[in-house]
Amino acid sequence: MTTAPQHLAIIMDGNGRWASAKGKNRTFGHRQGAKVVREITQYCAGQNIKYLTLYAFSTENWLRPKQEVDFLMKLLEHYLQSELEVYQRNNIRFIVIGDVEGLSKKLQKLIHTMQDATAQNTGLTQFLALNYGAKNEIARSVISLYERGVFEQARRLKREQGVDYIIKNIENALDTRAVSSVDLLIRTGGEMRLSNFLLWQCAYAELFFTPTLWPDFNAKELEKILQEFYQRNRRFGGL
Ligand code: FPP
Repeated sequence: MTTAPQHLAIIMDGNGRWASAKGKNRTFGHRQGAKVVREITQYCAGQNIKYLTLYAFSTENWLRPKQEVDFLMKLLEHYLQSELEVYQRNNIRFIVIGDVEGLSKKLQKLIHTMQDATAQNTGLTQFLALNYGAKNEIARSVISLYERGVFEQARRLKREQGVDYIIKNIENALDTRAVSSVDLLIRTGGEMRLSNFLLWQCAYAELFFTPTLWPDFNAKELEKILQEFYQRNRRFGGL
């Protein structure tokens, strides 16, 4: 297979360890991590990749010390204020996934401004996961089905059709909308877990774990991982 993944998702891990190894504060690692976000986003925009989802802040990350959370929020604000030109120049559509209402009003406003400004862009779509947790996302999707009476409609169908109908509806109500399935999931930083990221969407994803800490990750390593992805034989449960 030589086609690029339609949907690439990345768990950007290792910022803190990268900074500590240099005797610096963890925030130094996040700042460097933001630069890598820019490099990888621009690289993907130049490839045949349609969707890039980056895990920037999870529903569990609020458990970190307040000083680190505050820093990450400020870094995100700064990123949204400064990156619009890069997104426009590279024809990138920007969409936040996650429980946006749990973010500060200021951040919500910046998110909406950036989303509106890039809504007509036709190249790469970047989903930035903020206050994101897959269980939270699936639960919100199920609530929306309940509110729209989808379960009542499903009960009128034969069992198998009803199940398919619910699956389709859950998928369409996820934050990633109908673009649900991830082809390739990369996690940097050496840990081998999903950390509540895109659980539904990764049903048939190829998984790739690299020990490289996120601030050291770059387009060259991504290119190598893509080469390996092309060699994998994806059977989706068939033979
Ligand atoms: C994980 O590293 C990283 C995060 C929780 C935050 C990710 C944030 C960025 C990459 C930078 C900001 C992003 C944007 C879009 C501006 P960690 O802190 O868990 O590292 P550790 O595992 O070494 O402690």
